[in-house]
This record gives sequence, structure tokens and C-alpha cells, in this order.
Amino acid sequence: MKDNHIKKLKAGVMGWPVSHSLSPVLHSYWLSKYNINGSYEAIPVHPEDLEKALTDLRKNIFRGVNLTVPHKELALGYVDRIDSMAKRIGAINTILVEDSGVLVGSNTDAMGFTENLKDIVPEEVECGWSGKPAVVLGAGGAARAVCVALIDIGVKEIRLVNRNSDRAFGLIEQVEGMSNLSDVYSWDNRSDALSDAGLLVNTTSLGMTGKSPLHIDLTELPINSTVHDIVYSPLETDLLINAQQRGNKVVDGLGMLLHQARPGFCSWFGTDPSVSSQLRQVVLATLSK
Ligand code: ATR
Repeated sequence: MKDNHIKKLKAGVMGWPVSHSLSPVLHSYWLSKYNINGSYEAIPVHPEDLEKALTDLRKNIFRGVNLTVPHKELALGYVDRIDSMAKRIGAINTILVEDSGVLVGSNTDAMGFTENLKDIVPEEVECGWSGKPAVVLGAGGAARAVCVALIDIGVKEIRLVNRNSDRAFGLIEQVEGMSNLSDVYSWDNRSDALSDAGLLVNTTSLGMTGKSPLHIDLTELPINSTVHDIVYSPLETDLLINAQQRGNKVVDGLGMLLHQARPGFCSWFGTDPSVSSQLRQVVLATLSK
């Protein structure tokens, strides 16, 4: 009994606020499914307290944490090492506490994006959308992860559309490999970016519950292209509903969320978990509460 208690593996998610996070639901599902003696909790951490909270991780029994808004970039300065993805994306979403107490930061968002698309549109991922342009709406942290993933998939042209175009140009400068395959389109002309595109990805917060709607005229978008909204609340955004009605393949935001969680779970708890339809149902049930 005592031995079991000592061996209990702990992990969690730090954010501010954090109560909305779905990570505890999905990690708890996996812990139970794989019969692991562990726990995963939501840890509210104010940005001013992040450094201390991460320092304290070395002292206590946490195997690691996920980071969510607004900590992903700030945390870069508070870990001992970061992996190449975190460096390329410029943000951390997963921390492993090594046995020595060293904190290793990584970023699994690009991997989550790609693995989910491999599940749903494997042929398109395999051929990098056959050289057709990808349109990315947004230029924040999520857009950086998506662009890194698209570069690695082998997409030949990325059209970046953002309300603040300076931020889009900044992204192109910051993300290695972007400058020779990117164009910036103004927000007002976002529909012009869609002609000949093989993929449209919304990484903005528009369309999310409680935020403004995303207005975009899809007329120029080829019917055989894929439309992916990484917003998952609501799951069926207006963008996806409109795209589906006109015949485009659509990808919702839940799969990316589930897949990005896998490497953290694996490094903390020692089992590579699977993303199943049952997990989707469990998380969806929480979303619709
Ligand atoms: P994340 O890290 O999730 O990407 P973020 O860095 O806050 O979050 O980025 C949010 C994205 O949504 C940005 O691209 C933002 O555009 P700006 O860079 O111009 O701010 C976009 N966004 C948010 N509200 C918007 C709005 N009302 N109209 C257009 N774009 C909006």
C-alpha cells in the first residue's frame, strides 16, 4: 500500500485560467485505460508565478506538465533544455522532469497537427497536397506550430493571412524555412488567398465560443481541398459547416488536441497511448457539458 503511494506518478497542466482545459479529462482516461497508478491535474498558475511553479517541479514528485495559455512562450526562459521543435516553434507545451531534476521543454503541437491529418486525409499528407498552396489564417503561436508542421509535411507554398500583417511577416522571419515558400495576404483580401489552394487551416480564435465569428467567402476555394479548423469549441464551427456544405473535406480541432497530448503521456507514464473514437466521445461529452 505504502509502496504504491510512493510510486504514484503525477503530472498536470499549468495555465491561467486552466479550469477550461480538457487535458485532465483525456489524460485521466488514458491513466485508467492503461491501468497506470498516476494522476493528472489542472494547476492554476498566474504568469507571475510561473518561474517558481516550474522551479518547484524539480523538488516535488511531478513527472512533468503541459503548459497552456498564457505560459507557452514565457516558459522558454525557465527550463534547462528545449528540444528542436520547441526551438523552431518558439514555445513549449510539454515539460519532462528528468530523474536528475533537469526540466526538458518540448513542443508537440506540430506533431499533433500532422498525426491527426494522417488519420483523416493520409493521401494528402503523404504527397504534401501535391504541391498545392496551403492557406493559414492567423499568425500567433498556433499558426507557428502549423507552419512548422506544413514545412515538414513538404508543402511547397504557404499563404499566411493575418489581421496584423506585421505579425505575419514576423512569423516568416522567425520560422526557419518559411521565407522561401511564403506569401502574406491582407486580412481584407483573405478570400483571394484561396484560389488553387489544397488546404485551408484556421488558427485564429475567430469562431470559438464567446469570440467573434470568422467571416470568409469560400467561393474561390477548390471543392477538392481540405478545410481544417483547429478551434474545437464548438466542434462544428461555421467555417467547417460551410465548407462541408459545398463539398470540401473537413477536419475539426479535436484530433489535434488529442494527438498533441500523446508524447507527454508517454514520457511521464511510460506508455504510448492511442487516440481512439472512445476517447473522442469521452472528451466530446465534457465539451458539450
Ligand atoms: P494562439 O497562440 O492560440 O495562436 P494568439 O497568439 O493570441 O493565440 O493568436 C490569435 C490569432 O487570432 C492571431 O492571428 C490574431 O490576429 P492578430 O495577430 O491580428 O491579433 C487572430 N485574431 C484574433 N481576433 C481576431 C479578429 N477579431 N480578427 C482577425 N483575427 C483575429
